[in-house]
Amino acid sequence: MSASNVFARVTRENTIFKDERSLSPDFIPDALPHRDGQINALVYALKPLAEGGKASNVFVFGPPGAGKTATLRYVVSQLKEFSGRVRPVYLNCYGYNTRQAVLAELTRIVERPVPSRGMSTSELYQKVLEGLKFANFVPVLVFDEFDQLMENDGNDLLYDILRIPENGRVAIPVILISNDTSIPSRLDARVRSSFSHESVEFGPYTPMQLKDILRERASLSLVPNAISPDVVGLIAAHASKRGGDCRVAIETLRKAARNAERANAQQISEEHVRAAFEDPETHAVQKSIPYLSESHKQVLKGLFLLGGKNVPSNDLYVKLASQGIGLSDRRIRELLVELEKRKAVTTTTDVSGRGRTKRITVNFSEQTMEN
Ligand SMILES: Nc1ncnc2c1ncn2[C@@H]1O[C@H](COP(=O)(O)OP(=O)(O)OP(=O)(O)O)[C@@H](O)[C@H]1O
Ligand SMILES: [Mg+2]
Repeated sequence: MSASNVFARVTRENTIFKDERSLSPDFIPDALPHRDGQINALVYALKPLAEGGKASNVFVFGPPGAGKTATLRYVVSQLKEFSGRVRPVYLNCYGYNTRQAVLAELTRIVERPVPSRGMSTSELYQKVLEGLKFANFVPVLVFDEFDQLMENDGNDLLYDILRIPENGRVAIPVILISNDTSIPSRLDARVRSSFSHESVEFGPYTPMQLKDILRERASLSLVPNAISPDVVGLIAAHASKRGGDCRVAIETLRKAARNAERANAQQISEEHVRAAFEDPETHAVQKSIPYLSESHKQVLKGLFLLGGKNVPSNDLYVKLASQGIGLSDRRIRELLVELEKRKAVTTTTDVSGRGRTKRITVNFSEQTMEN
């Protein structure tokens, strides 16, 4: 290989990153500064279970990027390590968004797996009860992004879980996580009355707290002296304006570090940080992307081909049919309803002399979907 090879040239100097992975969204840090209060509250709610007693249900809430997912994943892994009697199960409800899907997963957890299709929810529920009878552990169910289940049949699922003790089995504690503080009050009356729970609030991070977290991440991911205190302060101030969101802070750090590395700089400058600021797409939208099915993506690609904004639904049916994608108009309509629930698209309906036209807008760019 010649020294002038473009790949060799680009990777030759590593001026900024030591380990970029620790800035990736799925990295789980071993320490979570400023979340001791929430960690203690969760331990207090769950520890009795490890000691043969009964755990509390927990409702965890707070704005985007407040550390709910990171903290729960950390607590779950600590609980697994601490006790063989408890089996915590973390479920992201973008992936498990129906009662059927969750019950099917539960049959697997209690070692009574069933074929993936063709069983009714009541059959699945019976299998779960049967499995629990012989299980020598108690599952703890963590439902992250619980809103996604609420949109569907989350109430029925909670009802199933909460009446497990009436069927002679040990109660299974549930932890619900959401941005929406009103979830407990929106549960059905029959569920609400038996869902006794502790609430654990995750408030937005202050600029000082964001600075601490950024410094810690920078020391894991960047070479020494790649970042100055002023630059840390600038990123923290930006994330603080965007709702005290730690995800914004870490994403901005990662993008700024990339900008610096691309420019072959020895240090991240304020310019590199400012160039990383733009990107107004909301996180709520981005979160759903990894959980979209191939059919959802085919619909989205069709919409992008038609410009992505205010696309009349009829044009979409015609486009997808012309591409030989085997989705019926009815199926496309169902997929659009699902995409709207996930906030991936917004639809509007115009009523004119010629009838009603549904128009669809995708809430993110094509590039975001591909990445
Ligand atoms: N106290 C902390 N220390 C270190 N990193 C943190 C801390 N809190 C959050 N993070 C990091 O910030 C990012 C966002 O956190 P997380 O995903 O837990 O937010 P969230 O509250 O679940 O947000 P959302 O409501 O959007 O799901 C993650 O990369 C996480 O690792
Ligand atoms: Mg989360």
